[in-house]
Amino acid sequence: METTMRAVRHDRFGPPEVLEIERITVPRPGPGQVLVRVHAASVSGGETAIREGRLRRVMRSKPPRGIGVDFSGRVVGVGTGVSPEQVGREVWGLMPHMAFGSTAEYVAVPVGRVAPAPRGLDPIRAAALPATGTTVLTALVEKARLAEGERLLVRGASGGVGSAAVEVGRALGAHVTGLAGARNLDWVRELGAHEALDHRRTGPEDLGRFDVVLDVVGTRLESYRRLLGPGGRMLPLAMDTSRPLRSAAYVLWSAVAHRRQVLPFSNDPSPETLAELTRYVESGRLTPHVDEVFPMSRIRDAHHRMERGGVRGKLVVSMAEDAATG
Ligand SMILES: NC(=O)c1ccc[n+]([C@@H]2O[C@H](COP(=O)([O-])OP(=O)(O)OC[C@H]3O[C@@H](n4cnc5c(N)ncnc54)[C@H](OP(=O)(O)O)[C@@H]3O)[C@@H](O)[C@H]2O)c1
Repeated sequence: METTMRAVRHDRFGPPEVLEIERITVPRPGPGQVLVRVHAASVSGGETAIREGRLRRVMRSKPPRGIGVDFSGRVVGVGTGVSPEQVGREVWGLMPHMAFGSTAEYVAVPVGRVAPAPRGLDPIRAAALPATGTTVLTALVEKARLAEGERLLVRGASGGVGSAAVEVGRALGAHVTGLAGARNLDWVRELGAHEALDHRRTGPEDLGRFDVVLDVVGTRLESYRRLLGPGGRMLPLAMDTSRPLRSAAYVLWSAVAHRRQVLPFSNDPSPETLAELTRYVESGRLTPHVDEVFPMSRIRDAHHRMERGGVRGKLVVSMAEDAATG
């Protein structure tokens, strides 16, 4: 097996041009870990702000660092305490909590961070869902306990988390309203939203009452919280990256001041949640949506594309495609 691999990393904060493909040592699977040959990884919405350093005072992570949270791949090695039967399994999974680095040819992660990839799902589409899908199941199923007939507002409905939230909301029987950019409104309706509204023309003052608000934007959170009816729950999942400290402080304060109503969390899914995600996909309740695929060599273009906005679902980075072209 190879002893070195290509991995995307950056050793300073800045624009997409700080991203470099470096040759580094293939990690060794430690106790309880599996080594995965990565087929593909996705670009997460929050990662561009992290790469720029806008969240450096809130998150402690400093360069040099890898990028990428989730991946699809094949198990090629195991550490002590893990059954060798794992080797050869096609899996999908996530890096450990708050760790980044799946945009690489190999990752070593705890065995609980991978699960069998859904049957019939190709590796590119499989890379699009582990992080966003588990975030949405944690948010809507575990935290908010969204119930049939409840009114759900998804703010940021066309992106990675938001598109999955629309589908899971529909699958749970909720009445779903999505806020998204104008050119993606029809697509958000196709995903299953009962209503899709242009976020540039619609503010909280234009909206009615909701039982659950899932927010991946991070601005004007107090105004959106006030849309909640009795017993309502809000999932503030993103920070306002133009003022991250103030935004994080508001979320922490409101989670105390409005306990049971404001339910922030940082996605750290259990193996059961990842297995549940596999079932959601295999039963057709949730579908990965890939807007564009980039080879690893074009990672900077992928980040530029993310920053331009308007992405439908996810951008995926393929390791194999890169190997074939490069
Ligand atoms: N707490 C957690 O555990 C957790 C987990 C996953 C993600 N997140 C966070 O959630 C955020 C979104 O992640 P993502 O991967 O879904 O990103 P994404 O794919 O970029 O999606 C964000 C969406 O928000 C839309 N948007 C931007 N401004 C808006 C506004 N004012 N009103 C309504 N929609 C607006 C964008 O639409 P346009 O591009 O058309 O403007 C885009 O579709 C990130 O900040 C990420 O860090 C948190």
